[in-house]
Amino acid sequence: MERIQSAIEKARQARQQGASPEPQEKPQVNPRPRNEAVAAPAVSVVDPGPDTKRDAIWKTVRSFQPKPAKLTHNRILAYQACPEAAPYDMMRTKLMQKMRKQGWRRVGITSPGAGSGKTMTCLNLAFSLARQSDLKVMVVELDMRRPSVARVLGLKEPVQFSEALAEKEPPEDHLLRYGTNLIFAANQSSTRHSAELLQGSSAAGVLDRLEAAYAPDIMIFDTPPLMVSDDTLAFLDQIDCALLVAEAERTRPAEVDKCEQELAARTNVLGVVLNKCRYMDRSDSYGYYGS
Ligand SMILES: Nc1ncnc2c1ncn2[C@@H]1O[C@H](COP(=O)(O)OP(=O)(O)OP(=O)(O)O)[C@@H](O)[C@H]1O
Ligand SMILES: [Mg+2]
Repeated sequence: MERIQSAIEKARQARQQGASPEPQEKPQVNPRPRNEAVAAPAVSVVDPGPDTKRDAIWKTVRSFQPKPAKLTHNRILAYQACPEAAPYDMMRTKLMQKMRKQGWRRVGITSPGAGSGKTMTCLNLAFSLARQSDLKVMVVELDMRRPSVARVLGLKEPVQFSEALAEKEPPEDHLLRYGTNLIFAANQSSTRHSAELLQGSSAAGVLDRLEAAYAPDIMIFDTPPLMVSDDTLAFLDQIDCALLVAEAERTRPAEVDKCEQELAARTNVLGVVLNKCRYMDRSDSYGYYGS
């Protein structure tokens, strides 16, 4: 783990000292066009005063209750406070601090290759955030080639959010709510032409309307791996920032560096999460390196 950590750091330093040096304080990338309703803080979208209107619309979403054993089996543990949730709670705090400071609401979770733990990170982070009852959290699954959110959560409902993104069906039909403040937009099966769907104007419009209607404090996008398809690249201008998940002992430092550069050219990189670390220092119980 130390090797990948120091290699990432070296690569960053080399980039910063290269022939055309980047400024140390990188300007924030913020390509996402926003309309006022979407860019404004959540409370002002729904009214001053108590969040009653927002609570009311969240209550209209079908609720579901996952089986704790299913979640635990799939390593989704942050739905309750426990030692295993601590790394996600720490990640949650850093993420929200940074995003609030910058006025960002949309974060994409991606990785260089497949199977690094994007979905697991995304869902644990979402459940951890949702334990803060004042936050409204929305998870949108955009890995439409290999969707897994429904399977991991054990959803029985026939949700297929890609149909909503394609404007074939109303988004409400494909949302499920856990508790009062966590909504999932998931898919039971894979979708063909997912890159085209993500690049198309219909998906962007659907997400903007969803954000305006539900006014979540944070939207977390579970995206496909960067090096496997152009789906994620196609979507980067729709998000405010991204987290890169690397798999310890499997993802190569050069891959992390390349993907970090690709992401940084199009959005704001929040940091790299090192997942599946077998050897952790007790004082450093999870691998998150903010940039
Ligand atoms: N920290 C971890 N420790 C042990 N196993 C893990 C860890 N993180 C993820 N896994 C396991 O690795 C597998 C892949 O995880 P996950 O589905 O979250 O990855 P992914 O990056 O979303 O994959 P894909 O690219 O297919 O979408 C799963 O079986 C998951 O349970
Ligand atoms: Mg996944």
